[in-house]
Amino acid sequence: MAGHRVHDDIGEILFSEEEIRAIVARLGQEISSDYSYIDGVEHKLILVCILKGSVVFMGELMKNLTIPVEIDFMRVSSYKGTYPDGEPTETLTLERDDIRNSDILIVEDIIDTGNTLNWLVNKRFPEKYQPRSVKSVTLLDKPSRRLPGLENFKADYTGAKIEDKFVVGYGLDYNQKYRALGYVGVPKPEVIA
Ligand code: IMP
Ligand code: MG
Repeated sequence: MAGHRVHDDIGEILFSEEEIRAIVARLGQEISSDYSYIDGVEHKLILVCILKGSVVFMGELMKNLTIPVEIDFMRVSSYKGTYPDGEPTETLTLERDDIRNSDILIVEDIIDTGNTLNWLVNKRFPEKYQPRSVKSVTLLDKPSRRLPGLENFKADYTGAKIEDKFVVGYGLDYNQKYRALGYVGVPKPEVIA
């Protein structure tokens, strides 16, 4: 079957489809348990997908939650290493009027320098959207890559920590390619030269 073949450009598989499924199931249980007060009426939880890389992860995560959730989408452009001198920008914003009464869970694909997610959780959401609470979940994390000052920053929920390797698949891209792979892998060096 085509879906089970490893793409020719991938040199190493870090997480197979089965391994990712187990990770997402575990995250789903933790989140459902922590947000067990959510009823979708009095207490609303909105999952905010950071496009585009998190779209596969969020789709899978939401199916693993036992609490009612609503979803929304945001797009953020980060200029690597410039924050706090120059900030990331929201290129697709949330346009709804119920955020102040909602709990927000930001869904990210991967944390690298920490620039994007730190800005969203500690600055953008508190200042612009002012939700009842804001937390974050990331599928992957590269803790060794943090910017100075963000060494201790992490998501509230982390799927797996990885070494400093550039990874693709399961939503993650290199030049917009490889997002549809079911697994997470490392492209061959000649591919990302
Ligand atoms: P940060 O602001 O440096 O933490 O960057 C996070 C964003 O960079 C992620 O949301 C991804 O879009 C992208 N990114 C970081 N590392 C990788 C990777 O290994 N593969 C693909 N995208 C990555
Ligand atoms: Mg991203």
